[in-house]
Amino acid sequence: MDITDRPRRLRRDGIRGMVSETDVCPEDLIAPVFVDATADERVEIESMPGHERVPVDESVARVEEVLETGVESVVLFGIPESKDERGTRAWADDGVVQEATRRVKRETDAYVITDVCLCEYTSHGHCGILEDHAQSAARLTVENDETLDLLGKIAVSHAEAGADMVAPSGMMDGTVGAIREALDDEGFSDVPIMSYAAKYESAFYGPFRDAADGAPAFGDRRHYQMDPANRREALREVALDVEQGADVLMVKPALPYLDVVSDIREEFDHPVAAYNVSGEYAMLHAAAEKGWLDLESVALESLVSIKRAGADLILTYFAEDVAERL
Ligand code: PBG
Repeated sequence: MDITDRPRRLRRDGIRGMVSETDVCPEDLIAPVFVDATADERVEIESMPGHERVPVDESVARVEEVLETGVESVVLFGIPESKDERGTRAWADDGVVQEATRRVKRETDAYVITDVCLCEYTSHGHCGILEDHAQSAARLTVENDETLDLLGKIAVSHAEAGADMVAPSGMMDGTVGAIREALDDEGFSDVPIMSYAAKYESAFYGPFRDAADGAPAFGDRRHYQMDPANRREALREVALDVEQGADVLMVKPALPYLDVVSDIREEFDHPVAAYNVSGEYAMLHAAAEKGWLDLESVALESLVSIKRAGADLILTYFAEDVAERL
């Protein structure tokens, strides 16, 4: 046999780890935490085993659990006590995310990222103000520019509460610029923006919408979130966010969009984040429950793949489980 190059030589114990190209460490992971102003005790999220909505009073305890695993950062999502057409509870000084952020920043060392969006706060469940409430679902559109003013207010209210970073997820055009300007005007020029730069209109968000109670009451998000068929458009979206001052570029979902993660890694020097979303978590749990997959292995393999594609940071519901084992 005349084989000179034998890659198998480096796959043996002892050397295999030394030549490994990709590492996942706890500090790369960001754990989503759901704070629910309507709850007075922790409520399990059925479609996301191991995750709960916690009352504001439990937010510090919940974040401490995350920190114990070695994960240093959380992204806070809020379920408000009430909803209305404009989502006014989203920028309230005593709103659920503002209150939780204040407590968590006062009592823990967690790096707190907040989700800046309206869908959990509007009665119709859309990520902005509706153009005309009387119109049929088929013709429904979210007003882009009016929504931007509100997103700026939300970001400022989070920064005032002590948020370390804000993460706008609504896919309105001009979001990053509007938030940057609002933050700078109020003296928060040090607060970075993690932009959901390429967020697709994905069916993988299903379990999250149960968790955060953020499903649109009618219509869908196709007219603002990206078409899953589009790869080149992601680079255009990201370029716009970079021009407007985004600090971290996020792709969402992660696993079905690793080509997009890889493209962005190639084209831009900013840190890249990927959101391993609720559906990606739920499907592995469901298969594991049936005994069809080994949960610990597929969870870690998923995160390794996301990093291998080029992500520096991963928002994932597996953060605690995986970090504990690293
Ligand atoms: C809402 C938001 C969503 C997610 C994060 N922020 C839902 C959506 O756009 O419908 C999804 C996260 C997940 O599925 O884990 N702005």
